Amino acid sequence: MLPAARPEKAPDLPRQPCGRLSNLWRGCSAPARLLSRSTVGASCVGAVASSQKSHKLEGMTDSHDHTKVLTEVDIDRYDPEARKWLTGAIRAVKSDANRSSDTHLLHVPLPSDWGIDLYLKDESSHPTGSLKHRLARSLFLHALCNGWIRPGRPVVEASSGSTAVSEAYFAQLIGVPFIAVMARSTSAQKIALIEFYGGTCHFVDNANEVYEVAADLAAESGGHYMDQFTYAERATDWRGNNNIAESIFDQMSSETHPEPSWIIATAGTGGTSATLARYVRYTGRATGICVADPDNSAFFAGWRDHDPSATTDQGSRIEGIGRQRVEASFIPSSIDRMMHVPDAAAIASIQLLETLMGRRAGASTGTGLWAAFRIVSQMKAAGQTGSLVALICDPGERYLDKYYSQDWLTEAGIDTVPFRERLADFMTSGRLD
Ligand SMILES: Cc1ncc(COP(=O)(O)O)c(C=O)c1O
Repeated sequence: MLPAARPEKAPDLPRQPCGRLSNLWRGCSAPARLLSRSTVGASCVGAVASSQKSHKLEGMTDSHDHTKVLTEVDIDRYDPEARKWLTGAIRAVKSDANRSSDTHLLHVPLPSDWGIDLYLKDESSHPTGSLKHRLARSLFLHALCNGWIRPGRPVVEASSGSTAVSEAYFAQLIGVPFIAVMARSTSAQKIALIEFYGGTCHFVDNANEVYEVAADLAAESGGHYMDQFTYAERATDWRGNNNIAESIFDQMSSETHPEPSWIIATAGTGGTSATLARYVRYTGRATGICVADPDNSAFFAGWRDHDPSATTDQGSRIEGIGRQRVEASFIPSSIDRMMHVPDAAAIASIQLLETLMGRRAGASTGTGLWAAFRIVSQMKAAGQTGSLVALICDPGERYLDKYYSQDWLTEAGIDTVPFRERLADFMTSGRLD
């Protein structure tokens, strides 16, 4: 039975996998951290890292009496070498962002007399090819500023592939080793990209093992478990700072309907939908946030039933999205609407995307696209005009041997034909029931 991701919400303290030290105390020995958190006792001084300076002040004692409360203690852990490295690492990550341009907002050619504009935020145009580039940058900055990443120590991540590709890139940028823990079924193209950026892949047979194996590997190597599924929602600056939401609204500002009726996202960690949802509320927009969810994902049932312990028996076939448990970074109360999208409908949608725009995208894009087409159809039926925004999450070239392979589809028992017929009808009638 899969453990629930969030039996109860503990927002500030990370989970402590396998009884290991949490990230919060990385770099401290256990006795040191206990003592330094409470009123510090003298024995702490001997337990902390050798680089730190301690100053014995009035009232201090050499005894190891932990119960003795001292009036004044000064422990200095400032490490100029470590700070210098950190400053360089943060500058490298920020410079990368400075050199990058914004991602495009593409207009999908629907019949103009419908009066409904559909846009796609093309996140595949990031340097590492997916919307995970934003997340990886945020996670690295968050972890660096927290002091969780240290020179020479590996960063370890549990991933379905896209995040690992982007994190391998940032790890290489700052010169630390990177280990991706992934299901053996991860696409060959993603594995090749992780290795291209100098990362190492560690495979598990059961996708549910990724969390624990990653935490163990980090603990054993003295590295840092990035834990995107916990930290995605809080590492990103949701108020702005050119996050995906701010960028979308800036790019929409000169359009016929600048405030989209809906933004449609999908959920892997839930971080993207959380950022979008918080931003629209924070900036006073009326835009609704819809999350499209594939087969075998726990997010839909968890949201529908207000049940954070929802799980599924099988993993998602749509790489990057759909989890077997409701991940901690998924914020259900921020989501206005969810739509379950069959995998075959998602793949039929990327086939239509290629016909309409000459672009290939991954099937998470197709999942959101099907939901967007459904909402367009409902708006048209209700006589509404307006705009919608969905996302191109990553490029289809990563999945040539999967979603773009008829052999793979046949073996997976996925028949896109009925959905393709419905989409062909949609493009002429505007109806997608
Ligand atoms: C290809 C792809 N699409 C969509 C998502 C969903 O993004 P988020 O993790 O922000 O929910 C992911 C996440 O891994 C992904 O890899």
